Amino acid sequence: MIQLQGIDKIYKTGPISFQALKDVSFTIEEGEYVAIMGHSGSGKSTMMNILGCLDAYDAGSYVLDGIDISGVKGNILSKIRCDKIGFVFQSYNLLAKHSALENVELPMMYNGVPKKERKRMAKELLALVGLSDKEKNKPTELSGGQKQRVAIARSLANSPAILLADEPTGNLDSVSEKEILKIFQDINDGGVTVLMVTHEADIATHTKRVISFKDGRIVSDQENLQRRIEAGR
Ligand SMILES: Nc1ncnc2c1ncn2[C@@H]1O[C@H](COP(=O)(O)OP(=O)(O)OP(=O)(O)O)[C@@H](O)[C@H]1O
Ligand SMILES: [Mg+2]
Repeated sequence: MIQLQGIDKIYKTGPISFQALKDVSFTIEEGEYVAIMGHSGSGKSTMMNILGCLDAYDAGSYVLDGIDISGVKGNILSKIRCDKIGFVFQSYNLLAKHSALENVELPMMYNGVPKKERKRMAKELLALVGLSDKEKNKPTELSGGQKQRVAIARSLANSPAILLADEPTGNLDSVSEKEILKIFQDINDGGVTVLMVTHEADIATHTKRVISFKDGRIVSDQENLQRRIEAGR
């Protein structure tokens, strides 16, 4: 599903260059659920932005679902992103003037889904995250956990093969966090490949595999020990 080989990312701020990713390689199979960990500044968000085709890289190759992303630019890249990837951010990134339902409809609107169909689909997705009663509410009228659930519903709008989540529970209390993690688990059980950045070691126990970054490099990539114990292997 995802094949990364020798990825470098260099940020240039005026005359200063900073290498945020150094020779990063990994492969993720369809249907995996992977946690990305590492200290602040280790390159996790940089990695997610590249995986989500939101940012370019400076060396290496990225093959996404059989497509070599290296040569792809502009509209075609946007189309690939739209079709294959759902993104969930720590800060929700909902449009303030639009209702929950409209926020979920937006990616389908960009993808040319007819109005009736996208309304039906958006209602279905809000029901999936348990928010049928909040369709008309604006983001300011929702709690943090509810906002994140709207954002998750939106991320699923174009039926992505991959869901990328960058600290999705970073701003939430432990109850909302549990609800959100349950939703991610259900999404993964439904066959969607999920990659989630997290600071919390105990969140990472929900996933089957943990990739850890330090100073822009992968320092470990292992099957989750806790999971292995639970599975009695
Ligand atoms: N647009 C940018 N321009 C210059 N440097 C950047 C830019 N974005 C990130 N960096 C630098 O790249 C490094 C990695 O940043 P990144 O946001 O990927 O870290 P992170 O692991 O997601 O951290 P956090 O846990 O705090 O979110 C940091 O040193 C950061 O200062
Ligand atoms: Mg980050």
